[in-house]
Amino acid sequence: MMTAYELILKKRNGGELSKEEIESFVSKVVSGGIDDAQTAAFLMAVYFRGMTDRETAYLTDAMTRSGDTVDLSAFGSLSADKHSTGGVGDKTSLIVAPVAACLGLKIAKMSGRGLGHTGGTVDKLESIPGFRTSLSPEEFISQTEKTGIALIGATGNLAPADKKLYALRDVIAAVDSIPLIVSSIMSKKLAAGAKNIVLDVKTGSGAFMKTAEDACLLAEKMVSIGKACGRNIAAVITDMNKPLGHNVGNALEVVEAVNVLRGEKTGDLREVCLALASNMVALAKNMPISEAEKLCAEALDSGKAFIKMKEWIGAQGGDVRYLDNVSLFPETSIKYEVLSPRSGYISGMDAEKIGLVSVLLGAGREKKDDVIDPAAGLVLCKKTGEYVERGEALCTLYTNKTGIVRQAEKEYLDSLVFSDLRPEEIPLIIKTVV
Ligand code: URA
Repeated sequence: MMTAYELILKKRNGGELSKEEIESFVSKVVSGGIDDAQTAAFLMAVYFRGMTDRETAYLTDAMTRSGDTVDLSAFGSLSADKHSTGGVGDKTSLIVAPVAACLGLKIAKMSGRGLGHTGGTVDKLESIPGFRTSLSPEEFISQTEKTGIALIGATGNLAPADKKLYALRDVIAAVDSIPLIVSSIMSKKLAAGAKNIVLDVKTGSGAFMKTAEDACLLAEKMVSIGKACGRNIAAVITDMNKPLGHNVGNALEVVEAVNVLRGEKTGDLREVCLALASNMVALAKNMPISEAEKLCAEALDSGKAFIKMKEWIGAQGGDVRYLDNVSLFPETSIKYEVLSPRSGYISGMDAEKIGLVSVLLGAGREKKDDVIDPAAGLVLCKKTGEYVERGEALCTLYTNKTGIVRQAEKEYLDSLVFSDLRPEEIPLIIKTVV
């Protein structure tokens, strides 16, 4: 067996690693048989040398098997999962899961918490009083059986190799490497057990993949690994040059999801959710996408998906009165309107900066152990492409933190680009890879 030194040397010199060599690296990572300096050096060698598709597949497979895997075979071909590569204002899981469950799919899903400028579904759901984000394995399966949905925080031993590798990549500036992202995301999705997987690959100022070309390449590689592992899989590449929808922050995003589920809100958020849900339904039920689109729109428009959401939230202990009457969610002590310093079109938004403003307001964590404020965040009044008069409201900031509003206002204004000309429209759904 090669030593850690020899593995690093081979990759550093541009060699192609064998299945056994990659398996030995992953098993050393999990057992502690390699120190952080050598693991980091290996990751940096991969960052610069890349990996062949075969190496990426071996790495993904070894990472998938590095810990527990979830058995969803009880749900046959109907188990389904989604993953977003991370964005700002991305509350799609709260809508996609109930729509898909209305059509008989079984969504037994693990989600994450907020990371940097991006939010996490688990934090959003915890803003509903009583909602439990951890269930026993038996509850997780039986609730999915009964209601069609169970959503929990990722449990400790799912793809433990990824936890270790991701934490190191984060501190050595090696996150944005396609083979490392592919193996990180796909190992977690494959270990989570669903037969049908829909990926929402974000591209633009608020995404890891800043260009559509990189996002397409990432999507194609993830889809090809998913298929090689026997899963039905599709990737929808969607725009993240501006936040999705208008609300950024935890309770605020639950409220916006409820608005879409009650048919009170249309626009980009509804459109992305319908694209994701219909791809999921088309995969699981092996039906044409056009038919799946009709069924998903009907589930939303009839109010059935909202009823399903309440059934799911209630089953996990959440107080559904908050969904029927969103004014029950607590308000922040400070509510501040940011006014436009000039007239003109908004021609660009830096979604990552807006995500960081929401963190500053209290909606995310600056350090891993920070406590988030479920009520904090911002509501956008104007987005890219819209015209605004000088003095008109651009957004409202919500916070309980004193002394930060001026800074948040300045950073929000810095995230915007104004123009006298109407900007060209960027398509919301760029491509679907199946
Ligand atoms: N999300 C992940 O889970 N892993 C990555 O590498 C990047 C985004």
